Amino acid sequence: MSAGPKIPPDLAATIVDPLAYGAWQPLLDAYATLRREAPIALAEIPGYRPFWVVTRHADILKISKDNTTFLNNPATVVLAPIMAEMFVAHLMNGSPHLVKSLVQMDAPEHPKYRRLTQDWFMPANLKTIEANIRTIAKASVDKMLAMGGECDFARDVASMYPLHVVMELLGVPESDEPLMLKLTQELFGGQDPDLNRTRAVQMSAEEATKIMAQTVADFNAYFEAMAQDRRANPRQDLATIIATGMIDGAPIPDYESAGYYTIVATAGHDTTSASTAGAMWALAQDPEQFAKVKADRTLLPGLIEEAIRWTTPVQHFMRTVAADTEIGGVSMKAGDWLMLCYISGNYDESVFPEPERFDATRSPNRHISFGSGAHQCLGLHLARLEMKILFEELLDRLDSVELAGEPKRSQSTFVGGPKTLPLRFKAA
Ligand code: HEM
Repeated sequence: MSAGPKIPPDLAATIVDPLAYGAWQPLLDAYATLRREAPIALAEIPGYRPFWVVTRHADILKISKDNTTFLNNPATVVLAPIMAEMFVAHLMNGSPHLVKSLVQMDAPEHPKYRRLTQDWFMPANLKTIEANIRTIAKASVDKMLAMGGECDFARDVASMYPLHVVMELLGVPESDEPLMLKLTQELFGGQDPDLNRTRAVQMSAEEATKIMAQTVADFNAYFEAMAQDRRANPRQDLATIIATGMIDGAPIPDYESAGYYTIVATAGHDTTSASTAGAMWALAQDPEQFAKVKADRTLLPGLIEEAIRWTTPVQHFMRTVAADTEIGGVSMKAGDWLMLCYISGNYDESVFPEPERFDATRSPNRHISFGSGAHQCLGLHLARLEMKILFEELLDRLDSVELAGEPKRSQSTFVGGPKTLPLRFKAA
């Protein structure tokens, strides 16, 4: 591991503390200090391998785009304590990953797998499923309005709508959606006592990893059966494209196809749920902005981008240095581990004036919520489309919204956002 500037222990502790992500402001303050005083610096935290923390927008972008020097495969791409890393390696015969999906791959394997579904996720193909998405959006708004003026928007609308969309596109039957929601929340929200598998408040790294391994095993069992079914009975769904995909002239193996399904199924809803709830949170606390967007729908794309920036649903990813390099005046050695802090990049005041303010008219809005480079979010057009359609329907049918209680963010260092958003609303 290279020597270099070090992060003060209290700040280092904050950026790995799920509670800080739930509390939010202490986290934003810690990132602001790091961007100012130590934009690339080493976190030495008991129980973790040392890792570089990258907090400025420009550095995160540069690293994300250099997929030769900064790799995904050699170590876990989500921050984990040493005990968890060891336990996974033990369980997986030396591999650092519980799941093998696009985010765990590098070239030359990664582009081959990504190419299988790339076209499917492009706007031209998404046009063909837009009407389908609108039907789901309308039903979500009907359900909300039927709740009679109050709801928990995060739980009742935002978490269910993208789930329903992605499961329908993937080809998972509606009756299995509660299972998919539960497994995803366990995978992403493992640190939050409201979301993890055992509702435990305190867990050792080994316990948490055991539980996560069980969740992954459940996903694998479900999706391996689904792949076999689609090979035997092909349909017009994404599951069939993946199950019948060929890599180097051979069918995609079961373990890899299960990983592919898992990344689409999981990355495809909790993230969009978070930014959808974030958009509503912002509108509920700013009636003027709500009225403006309701009256002028050309502001909708701006509202959506700002919600995705302001919420930053994917809060970090890790990379491993492939060869000795230098970035931002800091030398790194092959094998070094680093954390791309997307929240910090999205609140970088040198790129976003008054970053804590939600401004639907912010322009330009060069947020990095979808990452960049070879791994840039495959579902970004789908996420934007889903949000646009839902808010078109919502703004048509709502006259006003306001907070009816205190919203709460999930306590997770990886994927996070509002988990409770009490709302009072009047129908139009
Ligand atoms: C990758 C964010 C929605 C599927 C990623 C990455 C981020 C991200 C940060 C990693 C980028 C990088 O390493 O540079 C988000 C956010 C979303 C969202 C903020 C919603 C607002 C979706 C949706 C889907 C999806 C709707 C699919 C249904 C994927 C996949 C990858 C990915 C498959 C892996 C791509 C690769 O490694 O090549 N996403 N995502 N995401 N996302 Fe999304």
